[in-house]
Amino acid sequence: MAITRFTAGSAGPWQIDRVLAVTGPTLAPAERLQVSALPPTADSESVWILSGATSYKRYTERAEQAALDAVQPALGRPDARCAALIPITKSSRWWDLPQDERRAVFEETSHHIAIGLEYLPAIARQLYHSRDLDEPFDFLTWFEYAPGDATAFEELLARLRTSREWDYVEREVDIRLSR
Ligand code: HEM
Repeated sequence: MAITRFTAGSAGPWQIDRVLAVTGPTLAPAERLQVSALPPTADSESVWILSGATSYKRYTERAEQAALDAVQPALGRPDARCAALIPITKSSRWWDLPQDERRAVFEETSHHIAIGLEYLPAIARQLYHSRDLDEPFDFLTWFEYAPGDATAFEELLARLRTSREWDYVEREVDIRLSR
């Protein structure tokens, strides 16, 4: 299982511009963020470290995957100098739901994929799962976009945060970065 580590401290290519608690407790501010596949070296000072694993799809159906594959860009585009790291934890009320009811809230009711698709290819994204790693968050979500697409990204966030799915979000921290 490939684990990605997000280390906040004084090193790394990304400058941390702000850390905002949307729901629940915040994370400490720091200057820079390192994203790596390896553990941070013992002498590297860190303010916090979050880890997550890429994993299989839980909810995406075949036609949705095809629609995503047709437009979704890769991470690391040179123009995409803005990023957001948004760690999220969902409530036990969410995790207690059976799979079919979670899917129904996620897509049939909240239109997470349909809404998200409207913002591709401007926004590149990667979802990491942390819930099974004994981590403080269930998910680490990562987005990269060009400065000119920042307004569109805010609009996307506003739409998702007012959806039914977000009734189940009990902790969310919105960290913005640039390089
Ligand atoms: C899950 C698409 C934006 C947070 C997913 C999944 C897809 C998706 C396809 C389901 C993966 C699976 O089947 O397991 C998109 C697209 C977006 C977008 C196309 C457009 C940029 C966002 C944003 C956030 C977010 C802005 C957070 C603020 C999440 C979370 C999950 C998720 C937390 C995991 C949900 C769960 O498993 O309960 N997204 N997303 N997404 N997305 Fe998004």
